[in-house]
Amino acid sequence: MRLVLLGPPGAGKGTQAAAVRDLYGVPHISTGDMLRSAIAAGTPVGLKAKVIVDAGNLVPDDIMAEMVRERITAPDARPGYLLDGYPRNVTQATTLEAILLVLGQKLDHVVHLSLDDAEIVKRLSGRRTCASCGTPCHVTAAPPRVAGRCDNCGGTLVQREDDREEIIGRRLEVYRERTAPVVEFYRQLGLLREVDASGPVAEVRQRLEAALGQGAHGTKP
Ligand code: AP5
Repeated sequence: MRLVLLGPPGAGKGTQAAAVRDLYGVPHISTGDMLRSAIAAGTPVGLKAKVIVDAGNLVPDDIMAEMVRERITAPDARPGYLLDGYPRNVTQATTLEAILLVLGQKLDHVVHLSLDDAEIVKRLSGRRTCASCGTPCHVTAAPPRVAGRCDNCGGTLVQREDDREEIIGRRLEVYRERTAPVVEFYRQLGLLREVDASGPVAEVRQRLEAALGQGAHGTKP
């Protein structure tokens, strides 16, 4: 199963990715997480990306294409994968189609999580992210069991630099201008599944599973 998860910042892509990973047993490939790891490790890509990511802008397409091509050809991605955060503009969507053609692969579905701006700001400003494994939680909507500690791995929870209020506005602008047209791109290809991302995590998960043609508990194809 090869899936793309689209949606504005804070729509819940990272949160819902866990559900998809459980359903299909495929790796969650988040370009945002990959960039944050590169930044933390101080790699050449990370050094170049830091200023761009912190300002809420997009990292150059050629860097992203190479990163994604390499990751989706790794052995654990052979049975499929869930791409989260890529493609982020129409050029990246076209590039992905070209990469898939060379690999003899096709996407099965593209899921679009939609959410209004007011809810996005609430979710992003209250988000805390694990510095070790990247798992997100929320100070009020999904608080950690132990304050300041990740439920998944016990790592330290931090606020992302780009979750500051002034940067959230810029990310929304970039989404509207650059990423929203990608939704139309996949609609034209007949791959798009729309999912309303408002409401509690479990409700969104149910809608997502229904959109992917899964039962309440999911069945692996
Ligand atoms: P990236 O990490 O991809 O960020 P994003 O797309 O802005 O998405 P987020 O991670 O902010 O949100 P999400 O939808 O995953 O929400 P989450 O589940 O965490 O990218 C970061 C940056 O990297 C970009 O700005 C760019 O600079 C760069 N980049 C990445 N990919 C790139 C590319 N392809 N090309 C160029 N540049 C690229 O949830 C948010 C919060 O809400 C959490 O606190 C969560 O607990 C809470 N929450 C989730 N669901 C619910 C719910 N149903 N109810 C209540 N709270 C909820």
